[in-house]
Amino acid sequence: MKNIVLIFAGVAAVLLTAAMLLTAGWTSPPIQTVQGGFRGLSIGQLSTKESRHVLQLANTLPDPIDPAEAGGKKATDVYKNVQVLTDLTEAQFNRVMLGLAAWVGGEQGCNYCHNPENLAEDKPYTKIVSRSMLKMTRHINKDWSHVIKSGVTCYTCHRGNPVPANIWFKGAPPKSGGFAATNDGFGHPNAFNGSTGLGEDPFSGYLDAKEPIRVQSTQALPVNFGSSIQDATRSYGLMMSLSTSLGVNCTFCHNSRAFSSWEQASPQRVTAWHGIQMVRDLNINYMNPLLAQWPPNRLGPTGDGPKINCATCHQGASKPLLGVSLAKDWPELGGGAAH
Ligand code: HEC
Ligand code: HEC
Ligand code: HEC
Ligand code: HEC
Repeated sequence: MKNIVLIFAGVAAVLLTAAMLLTAGWTSPPIQTVQGGFRGLSIGQLSTKESRHVLQLANTLPDPIDPAEAGGKKATDVYKNVQVLTDLTEAQFNRVMLGLAAWVGGEQGCNYCHNPENLAEDKPYTKIVSRSMLKMTRHINKDWSHVIKSGVTCYTCHRGNPVPANIWFKGAPPKSGGFAATNDGFGHPNAFNGSTGLGEDPFSGYLDAKEPIRVQSTQALPVNFGSSIQDATRSYGLMMSLSTSLGVNCTFCHNSRAFSSWEQASPQRVTAWHGIQMVRDLNINYMNPLLAQWPPNRLGPTGDGPKINCATCHQGASKPLLGVSLAKDWPELGGGAAH
């Protein structure tokens, strides 16, 4: 009897150990740590061979497109309805169209934005949206130091798809329960708040307007109740989204002993601050004005249009496309000028 119990216990132990090692949730060593801050502070980013491999696969570049031949006629002399790419030659213009078809058009290619019978016609709506996108891409490359080293192209956000994988809408307003308190979107874990339930929509006001992102009060006493509990909750939700968008920990930007202190923060926090200002600019000046163009199936639950957040470009990497610059090969889109 005793032997049977022993054998049974042995088999059970082996099976449990195998299950422990083979089921999800276990990270196999070695784990690599990259120290970000001053040594000794334990401000490190963790990764495994597997997580780096997954990131590498998710950031492959599209097939290159040959540079345009120099010289030739202006696009405006050849085509009827060119409003944005007026500075390009015919060859450069055609090259841009090839890029657009590969990066944004999806399976339909040119026809995603064109009536094949008449390429000059301003239909479907995707062609009009693309004009704004062309202006926006050039504006980012020209005016925002945030992307200065690598720049952006349509591919940074679209990756071959008409609709980028990461977009956001305003959350539906909380249901009013009469005299009962509303939960203000609290307790709904989702992809934006890092599955924490820190508010359903951590972006409204912060990334489509200029509300201050504050948790710590700047005074000892509650003088004017500057930051409410709701503000603090949403600020933390936004911080969770910053971390997941870039695939990093809070300590990539902060020294966690003093989150608000800029003196103790890493240089990346300053880059992130400029990123926040840039996203606000893009949503306010490019995405929101497109509202009238979107068909009903592109609108959010409160009728607003799609918007940009950090993940739209970053997609889980601290530098989009792992810092490889596609834009340097695309002077037509404002890339490469700074090199
Ligand atoms: C993602 C949208 C998009 C895709 C895909 C696209 N185009 Fe365009 N196309 C545009 C936009 C926007 C314009 C207008 C540019 C401007 O006003 O500066 C345009 C203009 C043109 C024009 C000028 C027409 C005229 O007479 O005014 C031609 C020709 C053209 N595209 C050809 C193509 C071809 C060929 C393809 C496929 C290889 C293609 N396009 C793919 C958005 C797109
Ligand atoms: C910073 C990120 C970003 C960049 C760069 C960008 N886009 Fe977009 N684009 C978006 C977002 C966000 C949407 C909204 C998605 C939706 O349609 O629901 C969008 C939508 C579109 C759509 C409409 C798709 C649809 O089916 O409704 C087209 C077409 C488009 N972009 C073309 C382009 C072109 C062409 C470029 C490069 C010149 C470009 N985009 C660069 C973020 C970007
Ligand atoms: C990519 C960089 C980055 C990451 C990652 C990040 N933060 Fe932040 N954080 C910032 C920036 C930039 C600000 C300042 C925003 C402003 O002032 O407009 C900020 C502000 C804050 C504040 C407000 C401080 C105050 O003065 O009231 C807190 C608290 C905070 N972060 C906590 C966190 C936590 C917790 C995490 C991890 C879940 C985190 N942050 C991840 C960049 C980052
Ligand atoms: C339009 C695309 C785009 C958007 C949107 C964007 N970024 Fe970036 N970001 C970039 C590019 C490109 C780089 C790489 C620049 C370089 O080559 O150094 C970068 C770099 C960074 C870095 C430096 C990373 C490092 O390893 O040093 C931080 C931090 C960062 N972004 C934070 C943010 C935050 C936070 C947001 C949202 C509030 C944001 N970014 C939104 C394009 C974008």
